[in-house]
Amino acid sequence: MSNGICRICGGTVKETVNLGRQPSGNGFPLPHEIEHERSFPLSAGTCDSCTMFQLLDDVPSEAKYRDEYPYHASGSAVHRAHFEANARRFLETELTGPDAFIVEIGSNDGVMLATIAQAGVRHLGVEPCREVADVARGRGIQVLGEFFNENTAAAIRAEHGPANMVFGANCIAHIVDLRRLLQGIDTLLTPDGVFIFEEPYLGSVIAQNAFDMIYDEHVHIFSVRSIKAMAELAGFELVNAEPVPLHGGTMRYTIARPSRRAVAPAVAEFLAQEREQRLAEHGTIEKFAAAVRKIREDLTGLLGDLRAQGKRVVGYGAPAKVTTVTNYCGIGTELIPFVVDSTPSKQGRLVAGSHIPVLEPGAFSADHPDYAVLFAWNHAEEIMAKEQAFRERGGRWILYVPDVHIV
Ligand code: TYD
Ligand code: ZN
Repeated sequence: MSNGICRICGGTVKETVNLGRQPSGNGFPLPHEIEHERSFPLSAGTCDSCTMFQLLDDVPSEAKYRDEYPYHASGSAVHRAHFEANARRFLETELTGPDAFIVEIGSNDGVMLATIAQAGVRHLGVEPCREVADVARGRGIQVLGEFFNENTAAAIRAEHGPANMVFGANCIAHIVDLRRLLQGIDTLLTPDGVFIFEEPYLGSVIAQNAFDMIYDEHVHIFSVRSIKAMAELAGFELVNAEPVPLHGGTMRYTIARPSRRAVAPAVAEFLAQEREQRLAEHGTIEKFAAAVRKIREDLTGLLGDLRAQGKRVVGYGAPAKVTTVTNYCGIGTELIPFVVDSTPSKQGRLVAGSHIPVLEPGAFSADHPDYAVLFAWNHAEEIMAKEQAFRERGGRWILYVPDVHIV
């Protein structure tokens, strides 16, 4: 175990969770690409000063993001409905002015901006991964094919003027240099503008032992306390924190320039709750790490037993999480011959590192296995409803968070 330097405040980050060497979570190589596969140490901990939970090591961005980046935010009906509701709310709150302008960082396939574009409101998505950016363009959305930083922020402001709001979902925690990000936000926002972002919540990750939320892209996992500290270091103020029931527990943060907006009571409430849960303490993260080791033991034990009994087990869902779980637990095709996923750009590829093939969901429904490990556990309700026939014919779901259990 070694320590690192906090990316936010320069404090000491104590390595507490070690998930071994791992390939990039969304790597999903084609079969002929596996000989070039790279792996990196994956360990994490919290900062002694600002409490930001973060990875110890950086994975080069070209190893994480590629033109065919496979994650499509529109892949779930629940997510689509959520982002449409977000967009409608932004249209009614932040974007009511005559020439309102919104910038979305990591606009992916345009799941949120589609509603903004339909309303005829000025917008710009910033999305470096070409394939998803092209899907958004096909929906009539303006997209800049770049990474967001203070240089692109200045260029956007020069061309379009300042933004009333900047939004980001499930991508802000991916940004290695958040200090530079906030400089870009400072450049881009109007005096009363807000930066709203929603990202997996550390409190939920810890409460659910969701160690599979840790992978190379998730450089940070935010809490209200760490975001408040980060905002203040950059000359902003955290003015709201709202829980969102996505990705197994997400928090939506609103940051504004100091004293421009009323601070919602939720900020103090979540700070008090986090203090009570001792969320920032090393002891809490150490307990989490012990629970994660137990999950590995139990899951490999269960899968080994089921194989000995001649049961058929497959995986359901190929989120980036499947990479963390299978590589950390040493699970390969001998225990899980394939996983299914509805995302066409993942099908025909392999889970990075463990090399489990990703097939289309038809491979599951055509020949139901005895058990299915639900890797997309954050979509449990949607998937279990869709796959009722599996359960009705005696099939059972295996979940591994917060502990290994069968339902
Ligand atoms: P998700 O948890 O949204 O992403 P991440 O990669 O950030 O962990 O991924 C869920 C995956 O599950 C995604 O690849 C699509 C897949 N999926 C299905 O195969 N069927 C479904 O019905 C749903 C809702 C998702
Ligand atoms: Zn720090």
